[in-house]
Amino acid sequence: MPKFIIANWKSNHNLESAREWIRIVDKYLVENNIADLKVVLAPPNSLLAGLSEEIQSSKIELATQNISHLGLGSFTGEVCAKNLEGLEVKYTIAGHSERRRFFGETDQEVAVKVVLASKAGIVPILCVDEPYLNSQAQSLSAQVEKNPQNQNDIKPIIAYEPLEAIGSGKGAGIDNVIDVIKKILELFPQSPVIYGGSVDKNNVKDYLSVADGVLVGGASLETYSFIELLKGAL
Ligand code: PGA
Repeated sequence: MPKFIIANWKSNHNLESAREWIRIVDKYLVENNIADLKVVLAPPNSLLAGLSEEIQSSKIELATQNISHLGLGSFTGEVCAKNLEGLEVKYTIAGHSERRRFFGETDQEVAVKVVLASKAGIVPILCVDEPYLNSQAQSLSAQVEKNPQNQNDIKPIIAYEPLEAIGSGKGAGIDNVIDVIKKILELFPQSPVIYGGSVDKNNVKDYLSVADGVLVGGASLETYSFIELLKGAL
């Protein structure tokens, strides 16, 4: 199975720079015939519609950085699964620590996001850290029990994202990653598990040797550093 390389841009880039990034990264993937990596781009929502065409004709897939825990309706500022129809969005990040920290997202809300995205055919990338790994798994089980008919469709990718590693330049030690992935697989035996937090060209290969992919913030922003990271991953 190809390894996931998921580029989380957070609130960076505009339409022009995003199109340029896709053009350059896709050219690299095509020219080097890279089949071992699955590159997924999570741009700001405002860029999704404008990038659909570029994405369709590229090897890159599209994710959102968040999805509403509510459905269609009067929820100013929210973007729900239905709002994404027709936009080539295949994945959504759910419960990133920045969402939990700055926007007060709870385990329960994140669990609802995972279920709603799954129901809409969007694969959730559920972010967890050790302090709330168990409570998040419990909230998700409770939510799945309320939707038993969808049980088989709910197979999130789990991203182990230790808070202190995000944006710090200090990625987690490999032993810690191995340890936590083991715990994650006990709770989510069918899920691919990826790692995120200060992944760069120098450490990506180590993380990919123990995980099914990586979630990359800072090192995904510039095409130069991202392509270096892809080279490091091969
Ligand atoms: P970083 O961000 O690669 O800049 O540490 C990772 C993330 O927030 O998922």
